[in-house]
Amino acid sequence: MMLEKKKVLPRIIQGGMGVGVSSWKLARTVASYGQMGVVSGTALALTFARKLMDGDADGVLENALDHFPFPKIAQRIKEKYLSIVESKQKNRYRNVAMPSLDQSKELTELTVTANFTEVFLAKQGHEGLIGINFLEKIQIPTLPSIYGAMLAGVDYILMGAGIPARMPYTISELSLNHDVNIPIKIAEDGDNEPTLSYFSPTDFSEGEKLPILERPQFLAIVSSATLASHLNRSSFGSPDGFVVEAPIAGGHNAPPRGKTTYNEHGEPIYGDRDRIDIEAIAQIGLPFWLAGGYGSKEQLDAAISQGAAGVQVGTAFAFCEESGFEPSLKARVLKAIGLGKAHVKTDALASPTGFPFKVAEIEGTIGIEAVGNERKRICDLGYLREPYRKESGKIGYRCPSEPEKDYVAKGGKIEDTIGRRCLCNGLVSAIGLEQKRMDGTKELPLVTAGDDLKYILKFIEPGKTSYQALDVLSSLLGMKLNPII
Ligand SMILES: Cc1cc2nc3c(=O)[nH]c(=O)nc-3n(C[C@H](O)[C@H](O)[C@H](O)COP(=O)(O)O)c2cc1C
Repeated sequence: MMLEKKKVLPRIIQGGMGVGVSSWKLARTVASYGQMGVVSGTALALTFARKLMDGDADGVLENALDHFPFPKIAQRIKEKYLSIVESKQKNRYRNVAMPSLDQSKELTELTVTANFTEVFLAKQGHEGLIGINFLEKIQIPTLPSIYGAMLAGVDYILMGAGIPARMPYTISELSLNHDVNIPIKIAEDGDNEPTLSYFSPTDFSEGEKLPILERPQFLAIVSSATLASHLNRSSFGSPDGFVVEAPIAGGHNAPPRGKTTYNEHGEPIYGDRDRIDIEAIAQIGLPFWLAGGYGSKEQLDAAISQGAAGVQVGTAFAFCEESGFEPSLKARVLKAIGLGKAHVKTDALASPTGFPFKVAEIEGTIGIEAVGNERKRICDLGYLREPYRKESGKIGYRCPSEPEKDYVAKGGKIEDTIGRRCLCNGLVSAIGLEQKRMDGTKELPLVTAGDDLKYILKFIEPGKTSYQALDVLSSLLGMKLNPII
């Protein structure tokens, strides 16, 4: 029956939006109307721990943990994080360890349970499809994250921001509960042997019986036909399909091809070479969904006429009632759009990854240049740290958004720190889980959105000030919808 379900391809994939914007609530709603809901898998260990530290008042997280197949592990997580609620009452979250190659078993357990919980909750109450989205660039948490999502029966894994060539094989192996590894990119590594990140379901479960898992489908997020056909021919197996994303999409964007030139606002200029050859992608013969400015029925129809199975839409869903953005921030964004003051910039510098990143310039967020420049640099979440080889031969970690002197002391170039924003703290703050600093200040949010942001007010009915995921789905499909439960 599950296999049958996966053969029915959705018209609409609600895009994975990190950190925490496409939460289980949004994905569950979309899936319950027959389209694919996707949770973000980015930094889930951190956001899960902070939600537990907030007290889990309605008990949803604890209830999900009660369904985790390895009860002793679930119990440890509850004891550790639900018991430190009082640290939040002192207005600060206790630090959660940063991902690293030699991270503790405790952080691995937190990562697996966090991914399990998010998918488990998204899957409740309907028979629809749930996917989880990962960024290839964030490598260290990948294996335990995928395993956690699989333990909850995730239907699709989607991965972008890199070249996820090994993923089809890795997912197959994990679904058989086999030990797996992936090579981790290490800067300044010379001729060293590849450094591997390992995950062993057997070691993880401490001898408990391992559950039978289904292999989820794998969709690679690509921005060129060349990459799609390269992945299709990978010796590690082909993806099961593609999301084909144009650079007007929210979040990270692929950089322009060739030497980058910039407009007067410092935004990278995309040209003819960046036009995606949809026909060539269609010829590969796998299902694909078009993304980046496809938030309307006309665009959905246009995508289907080009051979796509449908579209992946992010921005339209990002600001609906069910999304994870902190509600008052969401309301401010909607108001700013109405006033014509919600400009979206393709920021070539903001992301420590070096990829262009869409930043909504909203008052009171670090998306406003002066506000962003004023933030005192601190690196305490660490999801975008780059591993590098130290002179001693050991592996260190650095991020161009950390304090400049620390970055340079670790061999980073000072010019790479210019204009960088702390995406980790900014994005976590945007979902209401911001850290309060010792000096009484708090981390300010960062909002990402695609160029479609200016069109989303069309989803709000007259007399209302907000809209729901159902309004987006009905508008895209051009019909009234009923839940399929
Ligand atoms: C708030 C927001 C966060 C996003 N975060 C991610 C992400 O973490 N990973 C990813 O692959 N895509 C991310 N995206 C891209 C979406 O998954 C989707 O592909 C894109 O939004 C589609 O284009 P649109 O914004 O024009 O609808 C994000 C988009 C938005 C709006």
